[in-house]
Amino acid sequence: MSDSLFLRACHRKPTGTTPIWLMRQAGRYMPEYRAIRARHSMLEAIRTPELACEITLQPVRAFALDAAIIFADILPILIGMGLSLEFAKGEGPVITNPVRSPADADALRTPPAEENLPYTLEAIRLVRRELDGRIPLIGFSGAPFTLASYAIEGGGSKNHVRVKSFMLSEPGAWGRLMDKMAAVVGDYLVAQAEAGTQALQIFDSWAGVLSPADYRAYVLPYAQRTVARARSAGVPVIYFGTDLNGMLPSLRETGADVIGVDWRIAIDDAWAQLGDGVAVQGNLDPVALCAPWPEVQRRADDILTRVAKRPGHIFNLGHGLLPETPVDNVRRLVDYVHERSAAMEAS
Ligand code: CP3
Repeated sequence: MSDSLFLRACHRKPTGTTPIWLMRQAGRYMPEYRAIRARHSMLEAIRTPELACEITLQPVRAFALDAAIIFADILPILIGMGLSLEFAKGEGPVITNPVRSPADADALRTPPAEENLPYTLEAIRLVRRELDGRIPLIGFSGAPFTLASYAIEGGGSKNHVRVKSFMLSEPGAWGRLMDKMAAVVGDYLVAQAEAGTQALQIFDSWAGVLSPADYRAYVLPYAQRTVARARSAGVPVIYFGTDLNGMLPSLRETGADVIGVDWRIAIDDAWAQLGDGVAVQGNLDPVALCAPWPEVQRRADDILTRVAKRPGHIFNLGHGLLPETPVDNVRRLVDYVHERSAAMEAS
């Protein structure tokens, strides 16, 4: 399994063919996913290991992907900490009792992953059995900041006023909250690796709302701790966020093996700023994958040309696949990245 294209690229070893997987590769753009969701709520699908396993395998059966990612979400971890989470139709996730004071933050519990998320750990064991060594399985978690942001805002947010105000006006309570998040997330990531995931991705989706100085002061130490704990499980760690291109050198300091880059920067510019000792994942605009195929192909070519044979590139999108994405474009992209990168390598 350590010979897999994806794991070799995580360790910056030559692969000949560029590996590809896609964030949110299981999801609403697939009719087989919509068929399961027509009968089960989001939380039901996540909490039923057989359903989570089946959904994880849907894109793996449909496309020649180089990695699977366990079907779950970053938010259910908050339930065992004492928050009530709902996936409201059309509104996205909602937390009905958000953290609004230092006392609320101090009241959050820190249950071990085996108690808090046993269903995802069981789903990981099922998927590993089904995959039977064909491709590696990726586990994931939200990062401390992105989870703190959901816990405090109570859902998605435009300006992140509540979480930033908490951070700036209650630095002591902020530190205690982030300590707790880092501990719970670190434990969950290690538990996923122990259950069988062969790589781990940390989603810091909202960290880009911060200035580079605030990121360094209020977030980076906890991201570093989380990455170090995850790496202690002996698997490569990917750190991903969006809108972070003004702070790439800080991302390098997280200690992750791989940095996920969004589409708002040319991938070779990002890599130049990150330096040599790290692998890079990305970075096709997910909206571009909804365009007519020749345009998708042109952009995939552009990315492959920019990283030209450099070991350590994992092809992916700059953020998750959108529900509007044509299934056929996904199939063609996966095949094209394999064929084109192999041809470039041979030339
Ligand atoms: O990548 C994968 O295929 C694994 C599964 C996965 C999901 N969510 C399933 C999901 C992963 C890795 C996530 C991560 C996640 N969840 C993030 C970080 C990545 C990112 O997109 O920035 C965040 C912020 C969340 C929280 C979340 N979950 C939101 C904001 C939403 C609603 C928005 C939306 O796309 O509907 C969800 C729901 C969700 N999580 C869906 C899926 C497939 C759609 C749910 C449905 O079927 O209706």
